[in-house]
Amino acid sequence: MTSDNRLPSSSTASITVPECLEKKQRGEKLVCLTAYDYAFARLADDSGVDLLLVGDSLGMVMGGRENTLTVTMREMVTALRWVRRGVHRALLVADMPYGSYHLGRRQTVANALRLIRAGAAAVKLEGGARRAPLLRALVEAEIPVVGHIGLTPQSLLPQGGYHVQGREHAAALQLQADARALAGAGAFALVLEGMPRELAGRITRQLAIPTIGIGAGPECDGQILVLHDLLNLSFAPQPKFVRRFADAAALVRGAMENYAAEVRRGGFPSDAESYHAPVPARAANS
Ligand code: KIV
Repeated sequence: MTSDNRLPSSSTASITVPECLEKKQRGEKLVCLTAYDYAFARLADDSGVDLLLVGDSLGMVMGGRENTLTVTMREMVTALRWVRRGVHRALLVADMPYGSYHLGRRQTVANALRLIRAGAAAVKLEGGARRAPLLRALVEAEIPVVGHIGLTPQSLLPQGGYHVQGREHAAALQLQADARALAGAGAFALVLEGMPRELAGRITRQLAIPTIGIGAGPECDGQILVLHDLLNLSFAPQPKFVRRFADAAALVRGAMENYAAEVRRGGFPSDAESYHAPVPARAANS
């Protein structure tokens, strides 16, 4: 007997990097979501999500910030540790925050290793072909990497806002070249964000690695959404690609309003929700 009999059954076994590639070969969609804490990570994992990303969107949806640029390595590591404890099956990927891979290979590999030590199985970084040397350095350090091209939120300052990318012919060709360069450098998956579906479809067909779309149409090999957008917990107008799958804001607000009303009218806690003194002491108190 090998130690295999101690592994969970295949339906609950962890998703691995090679398994992501095999899913593309089998034509199976990759279901991906962001997570930032234990409770939601557990729910996502129990729901069968394949890939969970501790995204730097954490700065906006958890921290209420305007953009992702001020997210730190320390914040990413803390969130990753919380999420890790809730995940048994999904492949856990961590975003490299702005500034954590901008000072050369040594700094990039050191920061990626911090994320791996905190529980990530892979890291994600934004940018096109010019990131290929960094990406290769990470792969050589045996750190699996997801690339991210198109609308890259960390490029907010040079791009002057969040704009759909690749609408013009030259820009579309550049994005296809970016995708090939990152796949060639060893990325095992590629996030395609904010681009025409036709372009995302072309890139998806050209690559052997899976593409994961967000605002990039249905032809991608998988889809990802920011959890708080899907649940209506983002408190911001949403772009057209976001579908609200539940109104958690209404659910939570309703529960809190009920709680407040019950406390104010003296209906909470009830006698059944209270501890009682032992019978003789009760008698003595009365
Ligand atoms: O930070 C994030 O949440 C992301 C995804 C939505 C792709 O990068």
